[in-house]
Amino acid sequence: MLPAQLIEQRLQAAVKTVLPDADTAAVLVRPCPDPRFGDYQTNALMGLARARKLNPRQLAADVLARLDVADCCEPPEVAGAGFLNFRVQTAALARALQAAARGEHLFFPPAAAPRTVVVDFSSPNVAKSMHVGHIRSTILGDSLARVLRLLGHRVITDNHLGDWGTQFGMLLTAWKRDLNAAALQTDAIAEMERLYKQAAAECKTSPAALEAARRELVRLQAGDAENLAIWRRMIALSRAQFDIIYQRLGVRFDHTLGESFYHPRLQPLVQELCDRGLARESEGARVVFFDDLPALQAHPALIQKRDGAFNYTTTDLATLAYRLETWQPDEIIYVTDARQQLHFQQLFAAFRRWRPEAAVRLAHVWFGSILGEDNKPFKTRSGETVKLADLLDEAEERAYRAVSEKNPALAEADRREVARVVGLGALKYADLLPNRQSDYVFSWDKMLALNGNTAPYLQYACARIRSIFRKGDVGGDLAPAALELGAPEELALARHLLNFGLVLAAMAEEYRPNFLCNYLYELAGRFTAFYEHCPVLKSAPGPRASRLVLCDLTARVLQQGLAVLGIETLEQM
Ligand code: ARG
Repeated sequence: MLPAQLIEQRLQAAVKTVLPDADTAAVLVRPCPDPRFGDYQTNALMGLARARKLNPRQLAADVLARLDVADCCEPPEVAGAGFLNFRVQTAALARALQAAARGEHLFFPPAAAPRTVVVDFSSPNVAKSMHVGHIRSTILGDSLARVLRLLGHRVITDNHLGDWGTQFGMLLTAWKRDLNAAALQTDAIAEMERLYKQAAAECKTSPAALEAARRELVRLQAGDAENLAIWRRMIALSRAQFDIIYQRLGVRFDHTLGESFYHPRLQPLVQELCDRGLARESEGARVVFFDDLPALQAHPALIQKRDGAFNYTTTDLATLAYRLETWQPDEIIYVTDARQQLHFQQLFAAFRRWRPEAAVRLAHVWFGSILGEDNKPFKTRSGETVKLADLLDEAEERAYRAVSEKNPALAEADRREVARVVGLGALKYADLLPNRQSDYVFSWDKMLALNGNTAPYLQYACARIRSIFRKGDVGGDLAPAALELGAPEELALARHLLNFGLVLAAMAEEYRPNFLCNYLYELAGRFTAFYEHCPVLKSAPGPRASRLVLCDLTARVLQQGLAVLGIETLEQM
C-alpha cells in the first residue's frame, strides 16, 4: 500500500476510536503545501472538532495518541490549530518506488469504490462546423473521461449532438431549393452553413420565408418521409466530418444519442411535471418556477413554449431521466462554456424536484473563452470564427516547421509524425493548463515552446529519459534488491512521484486537469535538478541501478500523465 493511503487508513481508524460517531470517509490526507512541514497533512480534525465544540489541538493530540504509523513515517506532529503533519521515512519511500518498479502500481491505487460516471461533452450542432469553443469541451471532457477510467471507474461518454431544433426548418427550405450537390460533395458542412445563412437572412426580412421554414419544421416533426430523409442525411454528413476531427484528437464516444433521440419523451415529461404541480401554465407557456430558491426566483425554466414547442431544457430533463434509467450513474458531468451556467442551474433544480429521491451527483463543468492576442474573442484575420479543423492543421504545420528546422536530417515521414504528436499535444495542453474557468490568450509561440510549461517541453523530457536507456544500453529487469536514496534531489523526485495518484484523484474530484499539468511540469523540473546533480550511467553499480529506477519511473509517470491529458509521447524527438 502507498504511504499516503496507509496513513489515511490508520488515521481514519484512530479517529474512529476517539470519535466513534464521526464520518471518517471525509478524513483525508493531502500533500503538504509547504514541504518544510512534512510530506502529507490532514486538516480534517479541525472540522470534526468544530462540529463537536471540542478543542482542535486537544482532539489532534488524542488522535495522535491512538495513531501508529511508525512503520512508514517519522513521528507525526500537531501543527497550528489542529493540523497533523506526516513525513514519510526514506525506507518507506524506497519501498513504494520498488513496488512501482516491479510493476505493482504506478503510484495510484485502483478505486476502492468504482462509480459509474456519464461524461457529456463536445456536443456540437449538426450542419455547423465545430469551432474553437467546441475544442475546450472536447479536450476537457476527454481528459476527465480518461482520468476517471484510469482510476477504475465505469465511464460512459455521450456526445449530446444538437441534431434537433428550429434551424432545421430553414435548412430544409434552402436545401430543397438551392442545394449545390457538388459543393456538398467537397465540404458538406460548409455547404450546409451557406444554406443556413441564406435562409436565415431571408427569414429576417420575409414573413413568407419564415412561414415556409416553420411549415418544413412542422412536417419534419410530424414524420414526413422526405424531410426525415434530408434531415438524416444532414446528420450523417455532419457526423462524418466530426468523426475525422475526433479521430485526429483520439477522442471516442460510447454513445452519440443527440437531442432528437429524446423527442418522443418530451410531451409525457411536460405532462407529468404539470400533473404533479411542478410546472404550471404562464401566459400560455409551461414553466417551472423556483420561488423557494433565491438564486433562481427570477429565472423560471420554460419547458414548453406557447406554440407547443419544447426547448433545450425539456430535452435535457428527458436526457437526464433516460441516463438514470439506462445506466444508473452515480455522477453525470456536463462540459460546456460559461454561458450555459444558468441553464444547468435551472436544469438541476427542476430535476431535483421531479426526482427528489435520485442520489446522482450532477456537475456542470464550465470553462471560459479562448482569446486572441488582442484579448478579444479568438477570430481569424478576416474576423470569422476559427474552425477547429483549421486549428489542428495549423498546429501540425507549425510543429512541422519547427521540427524540420531543429532536425533536418530526420526522414520526412518521421518529421510529420513528430509534428503531429507535438502540434496536437501543444494545442491540447495549452487548453488544459489554465484554470478552466478563466479566459486564456491563444498563442502559438507560447504553446509550442520547448521551454516552459508546455506539452513539447514534457514530451521532450520524456524522450530525453528514454535516450538515457538507449545510451546506456540498459534493458530488462530494473528492480534492484534495495533502492538507495540519499541526495536531496533524489528524495525530492521520489516524494513527488509518490503524489501522482493524489493529483489524479484531485483532478477527477474537482474536474481540473490543470492540477495534473502543473504536477507534471514540476516533475520534469525535479527530474532536471536530479539529473544535473546525480550522475546516472557513470556512477557505481548501486546508485546507478537506483537512479535508473528513478529515471524509468519518471518517464512512466510523465507518459501516463500526458496520456490522461490525451497527449501522446515519442521515444525520440
Ligand atoms: N449542443 C450544445 C452547444 O453546442 C451543447 C450541449 C451540451 N450538453 C447538454 N446536455 N446540454 O452549445
